[in-house]
Amino acid sequence: MTRALITGPTAGIGHSFARALAAQGHDLVLVARDEQRLEAISAELSAEHGIDVEVVVADLTDPEAVSRVENALASTAKPVDLLVNNAGASLAGWFGTTDIADEDRQLDLLVRAPMHLMDTAIKVMSGRGHGQVINVASVAAFTPRGAYSAHKAWLVNLSQWADIHYADAGVRVMALCPGFVRTEFHQRGEMDVSGVPRWMWLKSDRLVRDALSDLAKGKRLSIPSKRYKVLSTISRYAPAPLVARVAKRGR
Ligand SMILES: NC(=O)c1ccc[n+]([C@@H]2O[C@H](COP(=O)([O-])OP(=O)(O)OC[C@H]3O[C@@H](n4cnc5c(N)ncnc54)[C@H](OP(=O)(O)O)[C@@H]3O)[C@@H](O)[C@H]2O)c1
Repeated sequence: MTRALITGPTAGIGHSFARALAAQGHDLVLVARDEQRLEAISAELSAEHGIDVEVVVADLTDPEAVSRVENALASTAKPVDLLVNNAGASLAGWFGTTDIADEDRQLDLLVRAPMHLMDTAIKVMSGRGHGQVINVASVAAFTPRGAYSAHKAWLVNLSQWADIHYADAGVRVMALCPGFVRTEFHQRGEMDVSGVPRWMWLKSDRLVRDALSDLAKGKRLSIPSKRYKVLSTISRYAPAPLVARVAKRGR
């Protein structure tokens, strides 16, 4: 029995992580803003699987709230063995047209919060000699597609380095790079995804199953599904004109 801390478990990919890890018997710490949803998920998972679930209501764009989550991560009474840095969102609008205060909050949510939580996790886990971190990034990290993809590229890069650097201390760090997944993400970001073909959509539960399997295999970078493995390889080695065409449509 281990304990996992998941940010953003009230919807989408984070919710799939919470259900998958609860089904494996892990105790959970669930972090998000929506207290009602957190309490409902906590009650459901603890009743169904007999696990201990702690809820931390926190807006991860708020440094004080991030500190409270860091305290839960650093607990010696209830040590956390797995951190899933998953919470995220997209702004409605291209960088350069959005309000810069909103971009600051995006940077806080997608970079600053995972950085702080990863820092605390590495410190406590390396002290203990074991622990794992999953950083939920995106295949958008492999193509210039605006501020969101830049934030995810940062997360992939740091995760890969940390996995190499802290391996001898017993700490594993894996970057998870999903393609399009049916969640609340696109609606919340007011994105028109009507043109995205059906074959490009992944199912959240399957994605999480593949991600946990990749973590168990010791992978540093997890890109679930064959189609996105191929697409992300193409995007990493694509000729400049093709990269430019994709970049023009991204935000
Ligand atoms: N869906 C996709 O196609 C896709 C593709 C690639 C990568 N991703 C990444 O996958 C991760 C999860 O996204 P999703 O698709 O599952 O999105 P989602 O369905 O919209 O869920 C987002 C989760 O993040 C939490 N969250 C959002 N803002 C927060 C804040 N300021 N503080 C604390 N929690 C916050 C939300 O909870 P509350 O509202 O309760 O706070 C919710 O639980 C994100 O990092 C996203 O960038 C998604």
